Amino acid sequence: MEATGELASGDPSVGLEPGNLSGVRHIILVLSGKGGVGKSTISTELALALRHEGKKVGILDVDLCGPSIPRMLQAQGRAVHQCDSGWVPVFVDQEQSISLMSVGFLLERPDEAVVWRGPKKSALIKQFVSDVAWGELDYLVVDTPPGTSDEHMAAVEALRPYRPLGALVVTTPQECTNIFSRGGGEELARLAGVPFLGSVPLDPELSRSLEEGRDFIQEFPKSPAFPALASIAREVLNATPALLS
Ligand SMILES: Nc1ncnc2c1ncn2[C@@H]1O[C@H](COP(=O)(O)OP(=O)(O)OP(=O)(O)O)[C@@H](O)[C@H]1O
Ligand SMILES: [Mg+2]
Repeated sequence: MEATGELASGDPSVGLEPGNLSGVRHIILVLSGKGGVGKSTISTELALALRHEGKKVGILDVDLCGPSIPRMLQAQGRAVHQCDSGWVPVFVDQEQSISLMSVGFLLERPDEAVVWRGPKKSALIKQFVSDVAWGELDYLVVDTPPGTSDEHMAAVEALRPYRPLGALVVTTPQECTNIFSRGGGEELARLAGVPFLGSVPLDPELSRSLEEGRDFIQEFPKSPAFPALASIAREVLNATPALLS
């Protein structure tokens, strides 16, 4: 699993409209071309790592067909309430430093995939993006489904006025193609002219901690994926414009 990203410096005060996202300082989208490459893993671990750096973080899980973040953060089945300004996100930790909104909270059986059709899907995403009462956040991490689908179009459209900090693209090496058998993400980043954020080794402790909803960053500092994930979080912090961080 490798992460590349274009973390452009955006000034959130430019073009800002009042709304639920006006207290969110930096927005990061997590994307990938294909499924199952580790987007939700990176989203979760980036949020945990930023939280350990003292940041207030929100996660928006817009994967309507397979929302997995509630499971990874042991927040399945939590009820979401509405207030005057919209949905109230769920806090996943006692310190209330990570809040989460997922379509999984709105489903009766959260492990079930849902087939949403075009317009309904786009409308739900737009509602998600603009109607969650995040309050003040340092970072909002947006976990997306694979590819570029209606969800992405709707999410990007709704987020555009808030000038996202950037997109983090997750890739895995392609074993059949020599050039990409290793370092594919790095090569991709070079070709695209965007920063390479890091390469996360396969680590059974990481997948186990996600299955058990544990805080990998806190509990597994000696495991192989830890330095890679910590370094990706540092790269993101470094890419955040100093005056705005
Ligand atoms: N570095 C890693 N080491 C070991 N297991 C990993 C690693 N990264 C991800 N996984 C495992 O791979 C599986 C897929 O990861 P994840 O759900 O994060 O991918 P995804 O890109 O979000 O998938 P989808 O496209 O379905 O949303 C999970 O079971 C996860 O635990
Ligand atoms: Mg996912």
